[in-house]
Amino acid sequence: MSDLLSLNRAARLVGVNRADLQKKVQSGEMSSFDGKVTISQLLLCFPDAQLEDTAELKRISQIKERAFGKRVFERALPDAEVLAARITELSKTLANSQMQLKQFNALLVKLWDKFGELEGQCDGESRARMESLKCWIKQEVASAMEPGFSNPLAIKDGILSVMTAQVTLLPSQQDFLVEGRDTLLEAAMRVGISLNYGCSGGNCGLCKGKVLSGQVKKTRHHDFSLSETEKEQGIVLMCSSTAVSDITLEAYVTGSVQEIPYQQIVATVKTHAALTDEVMLLHLQTPRSQRLRFLAGQNVSLRVGQSFSTELPIASCPCDDRNLLFHVRRHSGNLFSDYVFEHLKNGEVVEVEGPQGEFILHEKSERPLYFFAFDGGFAPIKSLVEHAMSLEVATIHLHWIASSQEQLYLPNVGRAWGDALDNFHYSEHTTGFDLRVSNAKREAQLLHHLQEMTAADPAMTRGDVYLAGPEAAIGVAEKFFLSQGMPKSRVFVEVVS
Ligand code: FES
Repeated sequence: MSDLLSLNRAARLVGVNRADLQKKVQSGEMSSFDGKVTISQLLLCFPDAQLEDTAELKRISQIKERAFGKRVFERALPDAEVLAARITELSKTLANSQMQLKQFNALLVKLWDKFGELEGQCDGESRARMESLKCWIKQEVASAMEPGFSNPLAIKDGILSVMTAQVTLLPSQQDFLVEGRDTLLEAAMRVGISLNYGCSGGNCGLCKGKVLSGQVKKTRHHDFSLSETEKEQGIVLMCSSTAVSDITLEAYVTGSVQEIPYQQIVATVKTHAALTDEVMLLHLQTPRSQRLRFLAGQNVSLRVGQSFSTELPIASCPCDDRNLLFHVRRHSGNLFSDYVFEHLKNGEVVEVEGPQGEFILHEKSERPLYFFAFDGGFAPIKSLVEHAMSLEVATIHLHWIASSQEQLYLPNVGRAWGDALDNFHYSEHTTGFDLRVSNAKREAQLLHHLQEMTAADPAMTRGDVYLAGPEAAIGVAEKFFLSQGMPKSRVFVEVVS
């Protein structure tokens, strides 16, 4: 077990966000080596860290569970074979340490014999010095062997190394933990890392990765999409393998919408429920073998009934690619909306095509993130926020600006995030006029509102701004932020009608 820990692992041990540790490293409060920290450094910075002190971690896990659904964050033991391999590894380390201790004790005995031999040849003064040296050694050995001090973080790290395995991705240098019975692909998706994949079922071969070090185990028996040469080279299917030990994996991380294939999936309605008279929450589930690969903030086309179709933003996180959420607004006369509000049944088939759209998170940016949802623009913003949370970005601000109180149709989501996460700031605003309709007076009112918000938080224009909502409101907001000197490359917009 190495004393050097990745920030992910260190954050898990002391129960804080990875971004908090990053801040400590950047400020010099904690020294790091190659982006890693030692257990002793960690204990110096978090002297109160105890084995049971996981309150913060629990708090974050709870909010993530609420945000992403239980399935995504459920904790489960690794399978018996993986567990046995990890315990064997730990036992080897323990046996080595015991052997070293035995050798150390034998060395002490030899040292004492040597002292005895030398004492016989020494004069009185040298013998006294030797006696004092022996006393000092005895005391030091006794205090080193004293039971009582056991580094709580080292104990916790031992448990963590049995329950999880760490994956370091090359060339991106990202790392993540594999928990429970997760495959490499599932574990990466949970933390917002977008690896290349297709079927998730071991058939298409799109999720190949090369194991450079460490041990993996197949979770599916068939791997016919791999040639014998590929297997010999250590290439595995990430959707069909899990990590037994810490591993280094060469795998490509997708960064652009062009790399996501266009898909056609027949999903079913899991549930649908009215959030207000005007907004319906639609939950679709894809077949297990055909999940939707998308980036947070993207749209898909949906078709129901007698081919009533529409394009909608996905209101959930790509970390759960089987369960897709949508906020359907009532548009009188729109056949899709009429069908959903009047006739749709649970279990009914919905054809999903996509994804499309470029309103995605610019993950490489280290600036604070400011999300502005105008009315129904909350749907793609929610997807982006959930993705940003799974990436554990340092600071997230979410402003929901609504025409009326009624348009804040999921107020508890933002409030719960704000309550649970220290780095998350949520606020709601109502304008008192319909944001879909533009005129000079309303434009002036909205501008005034935005001016007040930036005056209250001047750092806003130094961050990345994501705007989603009706065209009229988005146009005003985009113009406003550009007029504040923000470059176009930091203001991202999405029209949601
Ligand atoms: S995603 Fe198709 S084989 Fe892994």
